[in-house]
Amino acid sequence: MTHTPTSRRYLMCRPTYFAVDYAINPWMDPTAPVDTDLAIRQWSALRQVYLDLGHTVDEIEPLPGLPDMVFAANGATVVDGTALAVQFLNPERADEAPAYAAWFERAGFEVQQPKAVNEGEGDILLAGELLLAGTGFRTAHTAHAQVQEIFGRPVVTLQLVDPRFYHLDTALCVLDRQTVAYLPEAFSPGSRAVLRRLFPDAVIARPADAEVLGLNAVSDGRHVVLPSQATGLAAALRERGYEPIGVDLSELRKAGGGPKCCTLEVRGAESRREEGKARR
Ligand code: ARG
Repeated sequence: MTHTPTSRRYLMCRPTYFAVDYAINPWMDPTAPVDTDLAIRQWSALRQVYLDLGHTVDEIEPLPGLPDMVFAANGATVVDGTALAVQFLNPERADEAPAYAAWFERAGFEVQQPKAVNEGEGDILLAGELLLAGTGFRTAHTAHAQVQEIFGRPVVTLQLVDPRFYHLDTALCVLDRQTVAYLPEAFSPGSRAVLRRLFPDAVIARPADAEVLGLNAVSDGRHVVLPSQATGLAAALRERGYEPIGVDLSELRKAGGGPKCCTLEVRGAESRREEGKARR
């Protein structure tokens, strides 16, 4: 089966002030050394992969004192030209929210304010007509109702149960409109059953791949940019006709982040029209 890529627009934030100064997930150890220059080089290589694939990359100015701001996926959820701003659970990241909201306002998007804890595309992923929404560690279950109301797409709540996979995008990756890859063990029994029903052809990841944040991947429908250490998942994807592209983000992983965390997909009003075309 051949998979057709579509060109995407991404928002990224250079890790100029990246550090691990606090621990808000089990990956973070503030006593372990972090090489910020290496993080910047690894991030730049990721950005270059997107450019080489023909995608557009916008950048938001990093702010000092916000070491996790590099994780742009947590900056908003953007569908059909509307950006739902975020509200972080942890006070350490609170000031990132207005910075991202301001970027979207300046860029001409309609910006809606969140009514509950909502960590953007970390927990809310567009899969065809559906929005898959994680809860259990960060995004509040009550936020899911607002997501459905704002975007007018069915929201499927998925319960995360393993603290290492605290955001949905660490446990599940949307490969294209009808296919996902995920780690069953990261979800409650009910949510596993939901995933089996919705995605009977899903790529099932193994713990070893998830443990290097292999599911924190970015797909354009064909090319899947994932951590180079996730070799088992890369092989499984290749077998299914996708083109895995490995990147090394070892420094950012010290904060619990991978390629997807660094990448917020910006879907303009045209996303509706393009999807209409794809359906015909
Ligand atoms: N240190 C960050 C946090 O715990 C990492 C965020 C990763 N982002 C993501 N989309 N999973 O909030």
